[in-house]
Order: sequence, then C-alpha cells, then structure tokens
Amino acid sequence: MSHFKSSRSVIAVKGNILYFTEDPRIAGDKAWHYHPDGMLLIENGIIQFAGDRCDCPAHEEAVTTGYDYSGKLILPGFVDTHIHPPQLSIIASNSTELLHWLDTYTFPEEGRFADPEVCRRGAERYFDETLKNGTTTSLAMATVHAESAEALFREAEKRNLRFVTGKTLMDRNAPDFLTDTPESAFDESLSLIERWHGKGRLGYAVTPRFAVTSTPQQLDAAQALMKEADGLIMHTHLSENHEEIRTVRELFPKAENYLDVYDHFGLVGKGSLFAHAIHLSEGEYERLADSGAAVSFCPSSNLFLGSGLFRMDNAERHSISVGLGSDVGGGTSFSQLYTMAEGFKVCQLCRTPLAATTAFYLATLGGARSLGLETRIGSFQKGSEADFLVLDPEATPLAARRTTRTESLEERLFVLMILGDDRFITATHIMGKPAYTRSEERL
Ligand code: GUN
Ligand code: ZN
Repeated sequence: MSHFKSSRSVIAVKGNILYFTEDPRIAGDKAWHYHPDGMLLIENGIIQFAGDRCDCPAHEEAVTTGYDYSGKLILPGFVDTHIHPPQLSIIASNSTELLHWLDTYTFPEEGRFADPEVCRRGAERYFDETLKNGTTTSLAMATVHAESAEALFREAEKRNLRFVTGKTLMDRNAPDFLTDTPESAFDESLSLIERWHGKGRLGYAVTPRFAVTSTPQQLDAAQALMKEADGLIMHTHLSENHEEIRTVRELFPKAENYLDVYDHFGLVGKGSLFAHAIHLSEGEYERLADSGAAVSFCPSSNLFLGSGLFRMDNAERHSISVGLGSDVGGGTSFSQLYTMAEGFKVCQLCRTPLAATTAFYLATLGGARSLGLETRIGSFQKGSEADFLVLDPEATPLAARRTTRTESLEERLFVLMILGDDRFITATHIMGKPAYTRSEERL
C-alpha cells in the first residue's frame, strides 16, 4: 500500500515559541505571542499551527518528523536588512572613517570578485555564516560584478533560502576595476532580474551603491530598472557619514538634501531600503515617512566606523519602517543578537531606551516588514514560511547563571540581547528543515 502514502511532510517542533504580529511600541504586550510549552506544526514547509502544545491539532501518526527543543526559545529566523557578503573577509579592518575604509580595504577586496571562483566560495562562506547566526533572510549588496550576485542567488537557491540581492551599480569615484557604465549597469541588472527575480524564494534589489558612486545617468538607469518588474527592492546607502554627505552636496548641488538626490530619480518609495539614515533633516524624515520607504539601523557599523548615532526616536516619531542591519564588513558581527546589543547602546546614548521586545521585533517581523515580506517570513502566523531559529538561554555558564535571576520573558530576552551571539544559536531551520545544527536534538 506504500504507493498510497502521500509525500506530505509534516514536521512538529516542541519548545518555547515566541513571535510577533505587531510592533510592541504600538501594541504593547499584545504585540507578541509566547507559548512556553509550545508547538509548531509545519506542513510542506509552511506553518499550520503555532501555539500551546495542548491545543495542537496534529494527530501523532500524521507527523513525519519531530524536533524536541524543550527549554529553548523558538523564534522566526532573523532578517538582516543590510549586509555586504563580499566584505566577509575584511571584517574588523581598522580605519578612521567610512571613505578611508572603503578605499583602503573594501574596494580592493571587492575587486577580487571578478573571479567567478571567488564569488562561488564567497557565497558558500556567506550562507554558512548567516545560518550559524540564525539569520534566514538578508538584503545583501553584491559587488559590481554580475557574477557576484549570480553566485549568491545560486547558493541561496541550493539552500532554499528567501534572499534578496543585486549587482552594485558604480560608475564613478571608484577604482576602474570596479566601475560599470549606465548601459552595462542596466543590461546586466535586467538580465539578473529576468533570471532570478521571483524565482522560488528569491528577489532582486536594484542597487546603486550610494549617490557618491553613481552619475545622474546611472541613477536614471536605476529608475528605469525599477519599472522592469513588480516587487523589486531599491537598496542603497543614505547619510551615514559627514564627509560622504559633503561629497554628495558637491556632486548634486541642486538637490535640497541627500534623500532628494534619490527622490529626483524616483528612487524613494515603498520598496526602497536606505541603510544608515543617521544624519537627516526634519524634511528627510518626513519624506521617508510619506513615501513608505524603510531604513536599516546598523549600530555595530555606525559605532565601528564612528559614523554617528541613529535616532530611533525620530524614526519612531515619524512612523518610519525600521529594520536591523549587520552591515558586515563595516559592521563587526553577523549576529543579530550582537547587533541588538549595539543598538541598545546607541539608543542609551540618545536617551531613548530600546526594549528587548522591540529589538526582537526589529530583528524578525520589523525586518520582514521593511522588505515587504511580512506575509511570508518574520512571524509564525498560519501560512508563513517556516524559517526559524532555536535559541539556548543557557548557552554559556554566565548566561545560565544570569538566567536563574530572571523573572519575566522580557528580562530573559534582555539577557539574550546583551550577552548573546552565535554560541546561543542551537539550530536554524529553513522551511521546517534543519539548515544548521549546533548539536543533534532530534526526538
Ligand atoms: N557606503 C557606500 N559603500 C558602503 C559600504 O560598503 N559600507 C558602508 N558601511 N557604507 C557604504
Ligand atoms: Zn553598507
């Protein structure tokens, strides 16, 4: 009778389930759902049930695989809204500030990606590292080489990841070996869009690096590219560093401000993601909010490069959609837990405290919302794709000790955010299946 057996995969996962359906700054403690004796039921990679184990509708005989993560926290996979995979090898390179760091370390390293083998190995290393850190989706900046984006897409497809990237556009103020032209930028991006955008779980981001490295003609090409398909992301940098802002003012003297440069070319709107957005005028906050654009808060990078302090209070006041970004290699860790801790410290310096629940929201549903992917990832609502991570609150003796003194979920999340890193990730699952495991935990 085996030929009557369906190929349906039903996965049951036991543990302390936590996920957000709202922003805690708006919905308070109604924003999250916590089930300490919880269960996820996943059918063919899709969440069918997330809740108390005793309410789980599954019949035991229907379950094809079970995972017992009792005592561990199960969260939707982390979403990294701004990262540079090709900069993995130059993380922790000492510099005084952004433009010097780009010229001294970043551009020479990105030049190596002219070699397809460097792209292929780089993509493998990148996803090994992100999965080890519980990051299941990222918005990633490739290099100027089409092959760099191509290799990332191929590797993401192999691992069945939801992933967004794009070839970087740069036609000035960069070394010759890293520049394209408005025409080649358009043609190569379009060919990548046709091959990869909307294929399986993959999406394309039109990616002018920043206003410093694109001519007006190239920003025109970026605008034309955005009309080539639905659901494209526009991914770039904005107002990270004072010297950068001064250069943009010289290059585009007629623009009212930095954001206005992108606006002039129709690049500000829903689906636009601006990394950093630190030094903004009131008018720029207003325009970001009105347009529905999102920003990526990249605290470890902003501190490491001495760029400045992101004003979460201003973003909140204007209801701007914010996600968290590691910004490796300007950022100093792939871990979203570490990024949250750095974010907490930035907010402390601005006297606008960041609650742990808000930080975990930003790293999951907040990030998914910034990328327009909230119906697919970032939460365990029925119908979501079952990308999740398993966090061990007792991963180190110190964390275990500290956890004995906690009394609430918020306090335990706070300890995880301040002390956490890749050692705390027990496992990462993609569409229900393990993609990274620290130790075997199968039932
Ligand atoms: N601005 C333009 N390029 C970059 C980059 O690679 N990293 C960061 N942090 N900022 C940038
Ligand atoms: Zn960046």
